[in-house]
Amino acid sequence: MKNKQAQINDILTDFDSKKFQQDLINWFQQEQRTLPWRDNQDPYRVWVSEIMLQQTKVDTVIPYFNRFIEKFPTPEKLAEADEQEVLKAWEGLGYYSRARNLQNAIREVVSDYGGKVPENADELASLKGVGPYTKGAILSIAYDKPEPAVDGNVMRVLSRILHIEDDIAKQSTKKLFEAIIREVISQEDPSSFNQGLMELGAIVCTPKSPSCMLCPVQEHCRAYHEGAEQKLPVKTKTKKQKKIPYAALLITNDEGEVLIQQRPADGLLANLWEFPMAPLEDIDQEHLPHWFFGEYGMKITPEKTVDHIKHVFSHLIWELEVIVCTTGKGRLDHPRAKFVAIEELEEYPFPVSHQKIAKHCK
Ligand code: ADE
Repeated sequence: MKNKQAQINDILTDFDSKKFQQDLINWFQQEQRTLPWRDNQDPYRVWVSEIMLQQTKVDTVIPYFNRFIEKFPTPEKLAEADEQEVLKAWEGLGYYSRARNLQNAIREVVSDYGGKVPENADELASLKGVGPYTKGAILSIAYDKPEPAVDGNVMRVLSRILHIEDDIAKQSTKKLFEAIIREVISQEDPSSFNQGLMELGAIVCTPKSPSCMLCPVQEHCRAYHEGAEQKLPVKTKTKKQKKIPYAALLITNDEGEVLIQQRPADGLLANLWEFPMAPLEDIDQEHLPHWFFGEYGMKITPEKTVDHIKHVFSHLIWELEVIVCTTGKGRLDHPRAKFVAIEELEEYPFPVSHQKIAKHCK
C-alpha cells in the first residue's frame, strides 16, 4: 500500500485544478438555484441549513428552513427557546437529534462565544453535532475559508471526475476525498467551489442517470471519457433494516381524551411524544390488556384495528398495528404519560408515524 500523499499525487497527476475551479465556479455563479440560505452569508443561517440538508432533500428543507428562521431568527432566540418548541419546528424532518444537538451547540455559542459562530476550526469542531462536513460547510460558505465539505454527493461527483473506485461507505475514503479537496479547492472562492460541487451533485451529476451532456466540467471528467459514470461511485450495501412489529394504542377515556407519552430523553426520537406502543413479539391482542396493566397500572379494552403504518428509519422499520382501545376514567400513574384533549395534540412534537395515528382521533 502506497502512502496517502503518494496516492493523492497519483490521482491528481494531469488534473488541471485551476481550469476545473474556473469552470465549476463560473457555472455555479450563473446557474445556482435561488435558495433561502443563499440570501446572505450569515453563519447561523448557513449552519441551520446545512444541518437540515443532511439526509433531507432541498425541496423538503426549504419551508422548514423559512419557518425555523422566522421563529428563531438569531442564535440568542434559538438558545433561549424551549427544546419542545424546537422539536415542534423540526416535526416531520426526521433525525431529531440534529435539532437537539443544534440547539445545544448554539447555546454554547451564545454562552461561550458571545453569540458569534466561531471562525476557528477547532472551536467549531468542538460543538455538538458539528462534524467535519458541517465544519467545512460553515467555514467555506460563511467565512470564505478553503476547507473541504465532503458528503455523499460530493464523493459521488469527485469519484466520477477523478475515477476513484474506493468504497465511499468507508471512513478512510471520506478522509481521502477531504485530502484531495484540500489540494484542489479554490483559494480565492472556496464558498462557490464547495457549493458548486454540491449543486453539481444535486442537479447534474445525479446518482442514477447523470446529465453528462450538460455538465460544466465534462472535459475534466475521467469517468465520462471512459464511459464509467454509471459504475461510480462504488458503495458497499448497508445491511437491511430490521422489521419490528408493534401494537400502537389509541386509548380514549370517558372524557374523550387520548393517552400520549413522552419518549425517553435518549435514543431514537428522544423526547418526542407518541401513543403507547407494545412490541408484538411477545404480546398478542388478547394479552394486550394484561401487558398494559403491568406497564401502566390501568385497565384497557382493545376495540378494533384501524390502520397499519410502516415507518422506515435508516436502521430499522416499524410496523405499527393501530388498535383503538377504551378505558374508564382509570387512574394513571406514569411519569411520562398523560391524557390530553384531542385539540391539544397539535401542541406536542410527534414522529410522522404517530402523526398518522393521531389522524384517527378525528
Ligand atoms: N446540500 C448540502 N448543502 C447544500 C447547500 N448549501 N445548497 C444546496 N444543497 C446542499
